Amino acid sequence: MIESTVTANASELAPEWRRLELLGQSLALERQGEPVPDALIDDLKKAQHRVIGARDEHRTWSALNTTLLTTLELDVLACAVGPEAEPRLGWLFQTLQPTRPHPYPTLALIQELFALEARQIDELYGALGDTGALRRHRLVNVNAPGPYETIRPCEGVTSRLLGRADQPLAPPGANPVTLRVEWDQLILPEACLEALSEFLLWITHRETVFTHWGAQPTGGPVALFSGPSGTGKTFAASAIATRLGWPLYRVDLGRLVSKWLGETEENINTLFDAAHGRPMVLQFEEADSLFGKRGDVKEARDRYANLEISHLLARIETHEGPCILTTNLRRNLDPAFGRRFQLALEFPRPDATARGRLWRALLPPRAPLQGVDPDFLGRTVNLTGGEIRNAATHAAFLAAGRDGAIGLPEIALAVWRELGKRGKPVSPSDLGGLACHRSGVTS
Ligand SMILES: Nc1ncnc2c1ncn2[C@@H]1O[C@H](COP(=O)(O)OP(=O)(O)O)[C@@H](O)[C@H]1O
Ligand SMILES: [Mg+2]
Repeated sequence: MIESTVTANASELAPEWRRLELLGQSLALERQGEPVPDALIDDLKKAQHRVIGARDEHRTWSALNTTLLTTLELDVLACAVGPEAEPRLGWLFQTLQPTRPHPYPTLALIQELFALEARQIDELYGALGDTGALRRHRLVNVNAPGPYETIRPCEGVTSRLLGRADQPLAPPGANPVTLRVEWDQLILPEACLEALSEFLLWITHRETVFTHWGAQPTGGPVALFSGPSGTGKTFAASAIATRLGWPLYRVDLGRLVSKWLGETEENINTLFDAAHGRPMVLQFEEADSLFGKRGDVKEARDRYANLEISHLLARIETHEGPCILTTNLRRNLDPAFGRRFQLALEFPRPDATARGRLWRALLPPRAPLQGVDPDFLGRTVNLTGGEIRNAATHAAFLAAGRDGAIGLPEIALAVWRELGKRGKPVSPSDLGGLACHRSGVTS
């Protein structure tokens, strides 16, 4: 799935930039009504010749898998990438479009630079449409078709072309998650672990199944993790990324959604363009906000939200790379969405045995313990993994504060505090076998 990259070295690309620069210089002179000197025309011809030669031998653009692009499409690509590869071009383009001072070219500027004829102008607009190869291969971006829209390379295109190390930069709108989780740290029923392993197969064996065996291609894979808070959904996403050795990025839906109509869609596009072809796992937390009552449109604002959501879901589905959506509310899910995922997995609350294992795993491994039996703790109070982690850590702080070992009184108090966070009245009987250790403590 991840394309291997053959990078052009900077000297192979130099004639491309030189040619654009000379085209820009002659356009500036023409606009002022001045003659273009013969020397400039000669230089332009030479540059043109070198550009064609290098392109024919696939020495320049092969890093971007552009073998099927037309000459005009390559010219557009060069104009979009040029300002990033060669700042001189950015400044030149900026002076050539004084009412839209932007280092990236507009369609109008490209049309003028290459003195395109009517037929070629149609081709230019076609090339930048949704179905044009430049857009399909996520090479360039244009917000809307129109002569004064700027054309930019998609994220990562310039660095792929130039062989610059692909900076491990988070795609816009996403935050890196550095937590590493080994597979054996996951405490889940065997059936869940098995389903998670199957999800990994969808990632690691794409090439075999889609390319070699000719299965009907799908984007993704997309997994939906649902289940109560604290059951390990986020933790499992880290385990998947760790197993793959890929970075995990958590997408903040709040940062993606803009109050400006249309901008959200742009943000969504920027995110997925940046993620395209890069080995990474994308995780969307609280995905229920995406699947909430679609179609029940009460206000205009809702309708926009629905449009944005449809757009986001469409991009998730077509994105080639793993996406994990997590939600605490399975029931709210429109069943029509279920079919969109390659895996839908319900994370159960841990049973007594699993809780015992969680206590054993989550009490700080080098902390002194006194009279603590993790299996007893697992049997006696019904907490989720997340609650056990919090309680175990809180108990450790209580013990450290007393300069002593973690014992049942510390654990009883920590569990009491944790139960208090559920927002419901807590009674000592909720502490089960720990109740007798909570002497003297009041909430
Ligand atoms: N099934 C589990 N296996 C191992 N640890 C777990 C599990 N569930 C929860 N935990 C612990 O609780 C913490 C919080 O869980 P988290 O993954 O954030 O829950 P969720 O995303 O389902 O709300 C984890 O970081 C981990 O330490
Ligand atoms: Mg979570």
